[in-house]
Amino acid sequence: MTIVSEHDIEELRFSLKNRLGEALLLTSQEDMLRYCRDWHGDVTSSAVAVIRPRSTKEVSDTVRACAELGLSIIPQGGNTGAPKRQVVLSLERMNAIRTIDSDDFSAVVEAGCILSEFKDAVQDKGMFFPLSLGAQGSCRIGGNVSTNAGGINVLRYGMTRELVLGLEVVLPDGTIWNGLSTLRKDNRGIDLKQLFIGAEGTLGIITAVAVKLYPNPEHVETALLGLNSLDDAIKLYRRARRECCDLMSAFEFMPPVAFTLAIEAIPDLKMPIAGDYPAYVLMEISGSGLVDTADLMGRFLEGVMEDGLVLDGVIASSRAQAQSLWLFREGMNEGQALRGSHMRTDISVPLSKLAAFVAEAEAELAEKLPECLAVSYGHVGDGNVHLNVLPPNGSTPEERDAFIYKSKTLVNEVLDRYVGSISAEHGIGRLKRSDFESRLSDVQRRMITGLKNAFDPDLRMNPGCQISLQPDS
Ligand code: LAC
Ligand code: ZN
Repeated sequence: MTIVSEHDIEELRFSLKNRLGEALLLTSQEDMLRYCRDWHGDVTSSAVAVIRPRSTKEVSDTVRACAELGLSIIPQGGNTGAPKRQVVLSLERMNAIRTIDSDDFSAVVEAGCILSEFKDAVQDKGMFFPLSLGAQGSCRIGGNVSTNAGGINVLRYGMTRELVLGLEVVLPDGTIWNGLSTLRKDNRGIDLKQLFIGAEGTLGIITAVAVKLYPNPEHVETALLGLNSLDDAIKLYRRARRECCDLMSAFEFMPPVAFTLAIEAIPDLKMPIAGDYPAYVLMEISGSGLVDTADLMGRFLEGVMEDGLVLDGVIASSRAQAQSLWLFREGMNEGQALRGSHMRTDISVPLSKLAAFVAEAEAELAEKLPECLAVSYGHVGDGNVHLNVLPPNGSTPEERDAFIYKSKTLVNEVLDRYVGSISAEHGIGRLKRSDFESRLSDVQRRMITGLKNAFDPDLRMNPGCQISLQPDS
């Protein structure tokens, strides 16, 4: 839906105010700016209005009003979308935690609740919500569910999809579907909630979520380990799963440059390991109740060091020390951002092929784009690596764009040979749409467009996200 003139925009704003009331709308450029920017700060654009409902009913009213006015809707749980000249629907005011039920190991939370606030509230009740992301202080549950977010605990607890028991959704015609069941087992036909998880707001607006909770892991052991290679890191992962009885809750791979990047972002950080190693793993074992995780970690590391798989390591002796080890993992993202725009990937291949894939992609990058820096890191236990490519310092924006394009094409070509995924955990959005669409088979495309037409025949929900179905999307 293209809006042609300022005059049209003013009329639309007037109509929205009439239907929904002033209190729900933001319309000045200044107020709207923070909703019209994606989280990397790379993409900005404008919207007719930002609408901020406070209840499911107000979401439904908003969706109906937009339908009448022919306005498209960009649902936004956090600042992660990139709206065009459409309406942004922000759920930030729908942030209530409706229930936390420790007897039932479940909770119901509204889509606009910030992930870390929900996790803290759950923890106050002695429970644990396992979704853990670097962005948890700002991202919102609805966005996490809409993108089926991953993060560092996936290897033990699964992606967001595995944590969801039920959903409340406002459909594109304004109908409210209350599917907020907390049943653990429910096989009554097609599991409709699955359609909305990972749909990135293209089929409806998730307004609330029922989730699984776990006992709070009171004992957490965190270790930073130095190794010879990514290949050894993957051997270590396999061994840890067997020897640590699947109590491993995180296993993050980092190359040596991770420390340089993290220190560029957080200059106070001190190197936690004395020697230099070709590869590092940040590993966590956690448990609750009668499990002795400290003994388990100690015995495990003794064995793998004796066998030469791990060359050196530090085990955090306090929560504070563990947090400072995690700062290297989190800081390396910030360090990359500080070096300017760069190529980010979110790739998965089968675990058994991950080391070979990274070696092949890095070798081709070194040969064809030797001036760039490849940084491969992440949740390798899930077969998921963020293989990013940083253009040389001092590159102009045009040079950066060219490096980004060339490196992305190169990495994706290698990835296709490994039959991997271009999006393991971040979703498609708009940035990866053409890479996604060009890899869809006819039958996949037919199923996706069939679903889209069934739910949103007017194509007003998050147009241009995931697939292009209309000329201006
Ligand atoms: C991470 C984000 C980029 O793993 O997914 O740091
Ligand atoms: Zn990640």
